[in-house]
Amino acid sequence: MLALWGFPDAETASPTARFFYRNLVTGSAVFWTLDNDGELAGELYAFLCLEDRDFADGRETAYLCAFRVKEPYRGQGYGTSMMSVALAQLKEMGFRYATIGVASDEPQNIRLYRRLGFSAKIRDCPVDPCARDENMQPVHEKNAFWLLKKTL
Ligand SMILES: CC(C)(COP(=O)(O)OP(=O)(O)OC[C@H]1O[C@@H](n2cnc3c(N)ncnc32)[C@H](O)[C@@H]1OP(=O)(O)O)[C@@H](O)C(=O)NCCC(=O)NCCS
Repeated sequence: MLALWGFPDAETASPTARFFYRNLVTGSAVFWTLDNDGELAGELYAFLCLEDRDFADGRETAYLCAFRVKEPYRGQGYGTSMMSVALAQLKEMGFRYATIGVASDEPQNIRLYRRLGFSAKIRDCPVDPCARDENMQPVHEKNAFWLLKKTL
């Protein structure tokens, strides 16, 4: 994951990269990648347990984030496929719900997530629990984003 984000090791990684890395190492997070003949074309992460239990509670609810497909590959169904695999695996792991954050001014993403079944809006969130500042504290966003939820 560090190599994918362009960091040689955890010590030199950004606070957010370090937060992702630590959670992956301890098993509190998992991730999926989209591979095009060795080239990273996309990535998606799930945090299984976070301090804010609306996002992830380690038991029933997991939080999906850092969902990205490289520009040339977008709009061809790859993101949907990667998300479908992730949702199925979370269900296999025993989770009942998945949450995801989306900016209120990103209608394309909102449409995609609605189509994927994230039909319930839990609340507006001013704090991104997975983005960390230099003190490793959660980052307060300028604009609150929506937390959406789906039954698996
Ligand atoms: C969101 C994202 C991962 C979806 O991956 P994808 O492979 O393009 O998705 P799919 O091809 O399976 O589905 C296409 C849908 O994605 C949405 N989408 C969002 N941004 C898009 C873009 N730049 N190009 C194409 N589709 C986009 C649209 O809703 C589209 O549905 P539509 O055909 O009804 O318009 C990808 O567009 C991306 O990396 N965007 C930039 C990063 C981002 O916004 N991540 C989400 C943060 S909440």
